[in-house]
Amino acid sequence: MATLAHAGPPIANTTALPKHIGILVAPSITPIDMFGPLDVFTAIAMYYVNETGPMQLSIITANDTPATTSPPLKGVDFGVKLWSTVTVDHYLEMAAKGFSMDHAAECNSTEMQSGTPLSPIDVLLVPGGGGTRGNVDKEISFVKAVYPSLQYLISVCTGSTIIARAGILDGKKATTNKKAWKWATTFGTNVEYIPAARWVKDGNIYTGSGVSAATDTAYAFVAEVYGEPVAQWIADASEYTRWTNASYDPFAERWGAGTNETKS
Ligand SMILES: *[C@@H]1O[C@H](CO)[C@@H](O)[C@H](O)[C@H]1NC(C)=O
Ligand SMILES: *[C@@H]1O[C@H](CO)[C@@H](O)[C@H](O)[C@H]1NC(C)=O
Ligand SMILES: *[C@@H]1O[C@H](CO)[C@@H](O)[C@H](O)[C@H]1NC(C)=O
Ligand SMILES: *[C@@H]1O[C@H](CO)[C@@H](O)[C@H](O)[C@H]1NC(C)=O
Repeated sequence: MATLAHAGPPIANTTALPKHIGILVAPSITPIDMFGPLDVFTAIAMYYVNETGPMQLSIITANDTPATTSPPLKGVDFGVKLWSTVTVDHYLEMAAKGFSMDHAAECNSTEMQSGTPLSPIDVLLVPGGGGTRGNVDKEISFVKAVYPSLQYLISVCTGSTIIARAGILDGKKATTNKKAWKWATTFGTNVEYIPAARWVKDGNIYTGSGVSAATDTAYAFVAEVYGEPVAQWIADASEYTRWTNASYDPFAERWGAGTNETKS
């Protein structure tokens, strides 16, 4: 086994570290929306295992058929298939029972076979992509049901439309994909969509801008929850140049989303 001993800075506040990251995968997601943040979380799970304890990752889909990173376009079949570790229904069923495995049949479930019993999700990541323009009713109900028990909710790109349709952004500040701005900002009630923003934080909700902004949003989250030195150390270890100014966003103008001044 490789030695992964780290010499990274200590985590600023270890009292309530997330243990369980869930990724809600809609039918066609944009690859980096999932894998950018997953890379950042993987670095935490790997380098900081002694501080966080073992971390759990759940991949959640609406049903048992695999999701894909392929765009949902005719003639395009270009993507990675993604199998879930738990379906929306099974997670909610288990949540309703307080995550206790009290039926024999459940011993056959994927999470028991992998040796890790399902536990409550602490942080839910909701990627975007072409699939958000299709039927995502189940994903929307899932977010609505689990949000009250989450420590943090993070949407990136048009994943914002799922959480907005769940009513979670109502009356809050948020951002979303700049190229899809016109469509994506039609969801929710009294959501203050901020055009020039790489990401926005409101309460325990982070919303990221389009595609590559997913990774910067994950780093912003890590900076707040684990400490800025930890975020920068992981970025350095990943040879990644972070975008640290949330309000610097040339893509708002590039895609005609508007400026923050004209909007407010
Ligand atoms: C965790 O602690 C063990 C025991 O001290 C050490 O051998 C290991 O390198 C540490 N792991 C990391 C990732 O720092
Ligand atoms: C540490 O985190 C906990 C839980 O989020 C919070 O209640 C507490 O105020 C934090 N402490 C410091 C010193 O930031
Ligand atoms: C568990 O799976 C095995 C093998 O597929 C099957 O024989 C058994 O009946 C299952 N048990 C339950 C309680 O579903
Ligand atoms: C962040 O970007 C905004 C918009 O370009 C700029 O007005 C502001 O000065 C920048 N802040 C910092 C700390 O660089």
